[in-house]
Amino acid sequence: MDKIILTGDRPTGRLHVGHYVGSLRRRVELQNSGEYKKVYIMIADAQALTDNIENPEKVRQNIIEVALDYLSCGLDPAKTTLLIQSQIPELCELTFYYMDLVTVSRLQRNPTVKNEIQMRNFEASIPVGFFTYPISQAADITAFKATTVPVGDDQLPMIEQTKEIVHKFNTVYAPVLVDPQALLPENEACMRLPGIDGRAKMSKSLGNCIYLADTADEVRKKIMSMYTDPQHLQVSDPGHLEGNTVFTYLDAFCRTEHFGRYLPEYADLDELKAHYRRGGLGDVKVKKFLNNIVQEELEPIRERRKMFERDIPAIFEILKKGSEAAREAAAQTLSEVKSAMRINYFEDAELIREQAAKYEEGQG
Ligand code: TRP
Repeated sequence: MDKIILTGDRPTGRLHVGHYVGSLRRRVELQNSGEYKKVYIMIADAQALTDNIENPEKVRQNIIEVALDYLSCGLDPAKTTLLIQSQIPELCELTFYYMDLVTVSRLQRNPTVKNEIQMRNFEASIPVGFFTYPISQAADITAFKATTVPVGDDQLPMIEQTKEIVHKFNTVYAPVLVDPQALLPENEACMRLPGIDGRAKMSKSLGNCIYLADTADEVRKKIMSMYTDPQHLQVSDPGHLEGNTVFTYLDAFCRTEHFGRYLPEYADLDELKAHYRRGGLGDVKVKKFLNNIVQEELEPIRERRKMFERDIPAIFEILKKGSEAAREAAAQTLSEVKSAMRINYFEDAELIREQAAKYEEGQG
């Protein structure tokens, strides 16, 4: 079977290094691997609206931010279809039919949705659209017959829900839908990159993110202010790696070749960690090393962003073309779904003949 990728992001803000190590970097590799027949990357604006009803302007403004971040990371419209979710009405139709295959109690058990409901204080007033977004996400994934969905582990419940819908649909109707697999980030640090303050999650409101669009100077300042080990007061003190943001970032960003370039006294990250643990290695030195690595990685992204920022209409054109191509693929799946459900009346010559025959008998 042809391998197809689909994944996406809610356009609620600029993308940061957490998105980068958690998914963006990988997407570019997958795109360039030649292993996938199609790669679809979706700006999930309709999903963003499910918990931003009061903030449509935020979603609207961030379409271009996310698109710029995608392109500057190296997603290439010649190889990857970039699309905007709301421009594919077929997704709504699929969602509507899938709703019959899912129970309310099943949705209530979705841990990610549960958690989000808590975070947003939705308890007593959950929008139906928000509550059912896992079903709409199943439509996103199945519409493109995705085999592979690169996501963080917070999205596993959505993939699980999608698989259940696929199995149910294929059993009740006909084997039309493709069973997708999640593709998780390469390690724990990439999966959960903390904010620069050491808090579990990077978030705009906490002001603890390093954005892909930050200047070199902003990035350096943020890295130099990073939370490390509060017990590591003197260089000679033994240091701890657990919860030490700088080392978590190194786990996500550092490759052995970086030592040759920026810190030749050490062979690899294990040696650096061992020295830190023993004592005698200062935070500033490690932070400078991290800064070199992160700058090396972000510099070309920043440069490409500047280039793309010069022609914004061209980016909307890319999104329009991508959405049109995506719509064709989704329409094909929807047509197969409707045939399988036997609601394709006008293309169903047999149905028409059968109904006609029934009434002919009566008249005869
Ligand atoms: N729920 C995803 C997020 O919050 C965004 C998303 C929407 C998505 N549709 C998708 C991810 C389909 C993967 C596949 O980041």
